[in-house]
Amino acid sequence: MNPVLELREGSLACEGVSLDTIAEAVGTPAYVYSSSAIRGQFERLDRALSGIPHRIHYSLKANANAAILRLVRSLGGGADVVSGGELYRALQGGFAPEDVVFGGVGKSARELAEAVEAGVRLINVESEAELRLLDGLACERKRKVPVGLRLNPEITVDSPHAYIRTGGKGHKFGIPWDEGLSAARLAASLPWLELAGLDMHVGSQLAELDAYERGLERVLGLLEAIRGEGISSVRYLDIGGGLAVPYEDEAPPDLRAYGRIVRDATRRTGLELLVEPGRFLVADAGSLLTRVLYRKRSGGREIAVTDAGMTELLRPSHYQAYHHIEPVRPRQRVTVRIDVVGPVCESGDFLALDREMPDIEAGDLLVVRTAGAYGYSMASNYNARPRAAEVLVDGDRYAVTTEREEYADLIRLERHALEWRTT
Ligand SMILES: Cc1ncc(COP(=O)(O)O)c(C=O)c1O
Repeated sequence: MNPVLELREGSLACEGVSLDTIAEAVGTPAYVYSSSAIRGQFERLDRALSGIPHRIHYSLKANANAAILRLVRSLGGGADVVSGGELYRALQGGFAPEDVVFGGVGKSARELAEAVEAGVRLINVESEAELRLLDGLACERKRKVPVGLRLNPEITVDSPHAYIRTGGKGHKFGIPWDEGLSAARLAASLPWLELAGLDMHVGSQLAELDAYERGLERVLGLLEAIRGEGISSVRYLDIGGGLAVPYEDEAPPDLRAYGRIVRDATRRTGLELLVEPGRFLVADAGSLLTRVLYRKRSGGREIAVTDAGMTELLRPSHYQAYHHIEPVRPRQRVTVRIDVVGPVCESGDFLALDREMPDIEAGDLLVVRTAGAYGYSMASNYNARPRAAEVLVDGDRYAVTTEREEYADLIRLERHALEWRTT
């Protein structure tokens, strides 16, 4: 289980700061991130890839917190973005454009133009139509643009939920396998594009590393075919993100095996490796603090209503994901089977169902573990709920990195005096 939190003087603490202290000072719900955990994961991955020319591009979609971006940048990481908004965040977070890779299945002309103007390292393209659009935008700006082809290797992968599998036949992501070579020919022939990379991202929370092995075999087979046609411009191999983290009692991914697979596959290609980890870098580092508001019993079920729910952490209801939950101040408690549910007016709003855990009472402070990835970044204002605060811990100090939203933030963009327009 998560080593990020340790018991100190009767309360769980993140690094040197008690979660009680943070909850008292900042309120709940609140996300708390450990910088040392993020640092540790980054360094572990970097070590696993040693000997391979590589760049680690952190996937902002997992958590685009500005302080986390600064931390990743200070470690020498780049950014992987999937929208104009994420590109904006990455640049605001201090990443140089050449440290950014831009991907995504549905980039608009505006977003592509922004990436061209910024001068990002690589734009991963997902269709021939997108290649043509990008070439036109590059021509208008007289900028030669390095592109990668995101290929769909059409392999089945083992990950805990269908929504996080992205490299299977018929999925919306990537260039269908049988169109890969013709897309490469097109990219190489368009005057304002340079075919600079091949890319795959076959899924998230991948349980088996052989997904990388099988995907790489296909993609590198295509590289040979491309080079066989005299196209020699490909210099990047982007293998996406997808490394898993343990949420319950799963084994962590074998990073040495991951490194070995990638090293063996890329050894003779001369390519520079790009990886786009999201979850792996930040999931474990993040904890969600929530207070129990009410305790009730209904139809034979024990229920605890907390002040965080699907608006703060969507993963349990959206992916039926498991997150370990426990009281911040453990004491002798009887064990119960209990539903830990949020305050949102939806039956699908829960953090855990039928969970066996120490009994909890109204007022208890709980911690939801392994919540650093796809937590705050998927948070919403549903039920007009202001989004939570975010806190970064570094040793024995902590800082609020994102203030809790105010009610006024909920209506900030709304116009009260309507300016009617007629056609
Ligand atoms: C293109 C791409 N790269 C990287 C990632 C990050 O994945 P993970 O958080 O599993 O590492 C994703 C997530 O879905 C993605 O779509």
